[in-house]
Amino acid sequence: MFYPDEVIEEVRERNDIVDVISNYVKLKKSGSNYVGLCPFHNEKTPSFSVSRNKQMYYCFGCGAGGNVFTFIMEYENFSFAESVKYLAQRSGIDLPDEDYSGEIKRENDLKSRLYEVYKAAANYYYYQMKTEQGRKAYEYLKNRELTDETMKQFGLGYSNIYSDDLYRYLKSKGYEDELLNKSGLLTYDEKRGVHDKFWNRVMFPILDVHNKVIAFGGRVMGDGLPKYLNSPETIIFDKSRNLFGLNFARQARTRKFLLCEGYMDVIALYQAGFQNAVASLGTAFTSQQASLIKRYADEVFITYDSDQAGTNAALRAIPILKEAGLSVKVVNMRPHKDPDEFIKALGKEEYQKRMDQAMNSFLFEVDVLERQFNFEDPEQKTKFFQETAKKLCTFEDEIERSNYIEATARKYHIPYEDLKTMVNRYGASLSNVNQYNTAVKADRESSKPHKEADGIKQSQKILLTWLIEEPEIYDKIKDIITADDFKDEMYHKTAQLVFEQFRENGIVVPAAILNQFSSKEEQNEIAALFNTGLVGEINHAEKEKAFNDTIHKVKKFSLDYESSRVTSIEELQKIIKEQTNLQKLHISLQDG
Ligand code: UTP
Ligand code: MN
Repeated sequence: MFYPDEVIEEVRERNDIVDVISNYVKLKKSGSNYVGLCPFHNEKTPSFSVSRNKQMYYCFGCGAGGNVFTFIMEYENFSFAESVKYLAQRSGIDLPDEDYSGEIKRENDLKSRLYEVYKAAANYYYYQMKTEQGRKAYEYLKNRELTDETMKQFGLGYSNIYSDDLYRYLKSKGYEDELLNKSGLLTYDEKRGVHDKFWNRVMFPILDVHNKVIAFGGRVMGDGLPKYLNSPETIIFDKSRNLFGLNFARQARTRKFLLCEGYMDVIALYQAGFQNAVASLGTAFTSQQASLIKRYADEVFITYDSDQAGTNAALRAIPILKEAGLSVKVVNMRPHKDPDEFIKALGKEEYQKRMDQAMNSFLFEVDVLERQFNFEDPEQKTKFFQETAKKLCTFEDEIERSNYIEATARKYHIPYEDLKTMVNRYGASLSNVNQYNTAVKADRESSKPHKEADGIKQSQKILLTWLIEEPEIYDKIKDIITADDFKDEMYHKTAQLVFEQFRENGIVVPAAILNQFSSKEEQNEIAALFNTGLVGEINHAEKEKAFNDTIHKVKKFSLDYESSRVTSIEELQKIIKEQTNLQKLHISLQDG
């Protein structure tokens, strides 16, 4: 950590978690906690809970959880260091001198150092395009009708024909090989030495929402293969959680987004005045990307390539977007290949017209379906309507379903009542299936906690949560359970911190323990350790039994574990004695 623990803890204390999260999530008081819809996964009923006492949040749906730093890291995609800075600023705390902390930070925060490397590389590529050799890259982009202003706006550049000039540049800037090796911008080969990954390509920097360069796409100028080469995933670049163009689109003053396939599509649309275009990064569209869009938009216009691959990709993206709560339309680019070519050929007014005529995603799906059936054949035609009726059943809302039945009936010139009857018939058989599925699912879910409770980790979690929530039990267990009974490395470290705080202060601040872990993943896991309560309401006797069961389970596991590793007969005898004592152990939860 590059700031002293006390400073980090002061920042945490000055930023009440309920206040901070309220700026992002609508919270409602419920008992001693606050609840709301989880911002990290899509849900309709709230399972996201924030505790003012613990100064922690936890989502029972997706397992996201942590303290106020974790939340900012997850929501803003910040590193731990960045979230400390951000919250310090929010609460008017002056952090130690930047120079001093900058030094230590360089040693510690790999993430922010990779951001530096990517920024330096982007600058380098950018200036290479202005050199003599870079002229052909510039001409190439000019040929594709990009203006100087657009090239500048997107920071487009050129990777030179030399095989290691980027490497030499980065070395001259003082970056060491260990870091550069992790950047993915270079290839380290024992025999052939170090080489630039990108060579003689037009470079497209990929920026995150905070305008930081996190990756590159590089295009050949002409017909070589691969057409686009992309930098690999790193700790600053997760393909499935970023979108090209999002840094601009989020600032476009509209809650409508255009979803394209290619970098050039986003850029061409931007140049034509559509700043709200984004593209997934050379991979299939993901649900994380849909959630990301949902933060800034309500409606998505899919504007993929007009070929079969584009249509298939659209069919896959539609349910993902809808699942995220977005309304979806599909823009027709025919007879042109993609938005880039469309705009070049017909201009932005025509593109706007296509947007205005965009097809509702359901009707688009039906349209694609229609192409698979030959309407001359009555049997196939019937089959088409059956398939369509099945699809119509998926609208849960009655009015919505009815509107779609009407639209479909109108489109295919069949009586509304006939289609409705067909839909209802499917609906009836489907609802039986649904009821069955729901029952099975509920069954599975209700038995889940019990099954997990068999797991030793679950008992360890329950115990740690119990200690946090009812600190008075510490005195009752301190001679029985120690941190060494937790064998998993992370659990052990956490238990150590918990027991240490009890010993020294008589009280535990769980949110402060989280400061000791700097990755989101670790913080999520620790948050679960402090948020595992018993299921349901229980009376005193049941509670005492559950408590003793938990202690027994945790201790028994620990003793069994140790007995399998003893090296002397004396050690074994000692463990056997402890095991016998454990069988007789009963702790009363009554005071005193
Ligand atoms: P396309 O092949 O449709 O390219 O790939 P495009 O965007 O129309 O490119 P131009 O107009 O010929 O320059 C769509 C996207 O798929 C990814 C890239 O992100 C590209 O923008 N892709 C494509 C790759 O990652 N690698 C490839 O080899 C090709
Ligand atoms: Mn294209």
